[in-house]
Amino acid sequence: MKSIEQIWDWMDRPDSAALHALCSGTVWMFVGVTLGITMSNELTSPDLFAGIPQLVFSRLRPAHVNMNLFGFLGTTFYGGWYFILPRLCRTPLRTNREANLLIVLWNLAILAGSISLANGGNQGHEYGEYPWYVNFPVEIALIWNASIIFRTILAREVQKIYVSIWYIGGTVLWISVLYFIGHVMWHPFTTYLPDGQIVHAGATIGLDDAVWNWFYGHNVFGLYITTGGIAIVYYLVPKIAKTPLYSHALSLIGFWTIALLYAPTGQHHLLLAPIPNWLKIYAIIGSVALIVPVFSFVTNIFMTMSGKWSKAIDIVSLRFVLTGVFFYLAVSFQGSIQSLMTVNRFIHYTQWVVGHAHLALLGAFGFIAAGTVLYMIPQIVRRPLWSRNLADAQYWLFLIGLTGFFWSLTAAGLAQGSAWMLLGQQVVRAYPVVKPYFLLRSTFATLIYLGVIFELINIYMTLTTTRLDRAYSDRLNKAKNLEELMPAGLGASEL
Ligand code: HEM
Ligand code: HEM
Repeated sequence: MKSIEQIWDWMDRPDSAALHALCSGTVWMFVGVTLGITMSNELTSPDLFAGIPQLVFSRLRPAHVNMNLFGFLGTTFYGGWYFILPRLCRTPLRTNREANLLIVLWNLAILAGSISLANGGNQGHEYGEYPWYVNFPVEIALIWNASIIFRTILAREVQKIYVSIWYIGGTVLWISVLYFIGHVMWHPFTTYLPDGQIVHAGATIGLDDAVWNWFYGHNVFGLYITTGGIAIVYYLVPKIAKTPLYSHALSLIGFWTIALLYAPTGQHHLLLAPIPNWLKIYAIIGSVALIVPVFSFVTNIFMTMSGKWSKAIDIVSLRFVLTGVFFYLAVSFQGSIQSLMTVNRFIHYTQWVVGHAHLALLGAFGFIAAGTVLYMIPQIVRRPLWSRNLADAQYWLFLIGLTGFFWSLTAAGLAQGSAWMLLGQQVVRAYPVVKPYFLLRSTFATLIYLGVIFELINIYMTLTTTRLDRAYSDRLNKAKNLEELMPAGLGASEL
């Protein structure tokens, strides 16, 4: 049993908070995907867990979604930021101990939120399901995180503010405000109004509630997950490819346009709801205009890689990140198209949207998260990745699994849309039509699950074994120290 001093010592060590967060995010990924695969099978075998209320689809769904958004992607990205900031600011994190304690609080809050959701404690907003007693620790953790990050930025020993820092700073501020709004935290108790209306805890009234909900919902994707992930890509790609970023100006154009354009676009989720028309028009224009930040980011990264693409073949973590960037381009293009009224009328309420959601969160940002973990953990523990072959296999399992997952749902969505819109069939009559696509989704999901298990094994073994591969040992013998071994940021994992 470790004494408390040993725990404090460990928490004070450089990069310990980054390691803690990256490992926690990997565990959340495993649990979140386990819930996903369970639900996916429930959609084809509805009685799979009949009689166990905690495992019914309607309870697992919000647990899966929140765990993946906040537990998997959120925590992994915190790890990435804690790794990046001290390096770009040339100063230690303020402080590693605080960041470690924050990750403990964050993990406990996500665990409590998931247990509440499985037991039916749900606030009833999409992406804002956690009940109020979970929202308070989450909000404290978000504000605390912003304070750690800004104190580190202010203490930086370099004048320049690198683009990743802009994105990290913006993200932590935006999410602290968004979470408060999205969970209607100023209204934690149910109120009975004199006119007989009931306003439930964590809700405003009627359509206003939906408008606020989607203001929050899409901004969580755009100003938390997207900007949080982009921050890491802007650091990792030039670093691993050992080349300067193509254009600092382009990256700032991307930052300010995403910051200004994203806010109103959330209403594109309500294009078929009776919200004011001006809100819909605003949302559609904003959604199409998002092409500007998307293209400036993707062009910048791809131009940075110009002449260096062969590195993406050799270096698995870089390949993961660049594939994520490619999926980001694809999903954003799809997003702009499906925001148009004629397209949206056809695909709304169908599995097409679930396909889009996974292309974005698992495709774009899940790949970026996997690349981050596979690159940073070996750097932190100064040991090569346990198995490059396992990481390679994980990449192909993710790629084939996600592509099949996405196309099965896209086809299911088109079949549902055609049945309702073109053939005028009742919603329920379209279920037998989508069942084969659901079976296909479960099959492809199994490949992704296998990939997730591979990552878990690889990281566990990297942390616990001291085995060095032959090529690495040879280089180690020739080099005088680790710095010499990793001259320009090329990590041990890549040797
Ligand atoms: C093998 C992996 C996964 C499987 C099998 C899976 C399965 C599912 C299923 C069955 C649903 C419910 C869809 C519905 O309501 O019809 C769902 C929803 C969702 N999942 Fe996953 N999931 C996986 C991984 C992930 C990951 C890694 C993320 C995020 C990083 C994620 C984010 C979401 C989101 C945001 C939704 C809500 C989508 C919407 O409402 O359109 N999933 N998932
Ligand atoms: C230019 C970029 C994008 C545009 C214009 C866009 C547009 C849309 C639209 C119109 C919908 C609603 C479809 C419907 O229900 O009718 C939607 C759903 C969704 N989008 Fe995007 N999208 C974009 C990028 C992204 C990104 C980068 C992410 C993730 C980080 C994302 C995550 C989602 C999710 C999870 C949903 C499902 C929400 C739900 O119904 O539960 N999108 N998107």
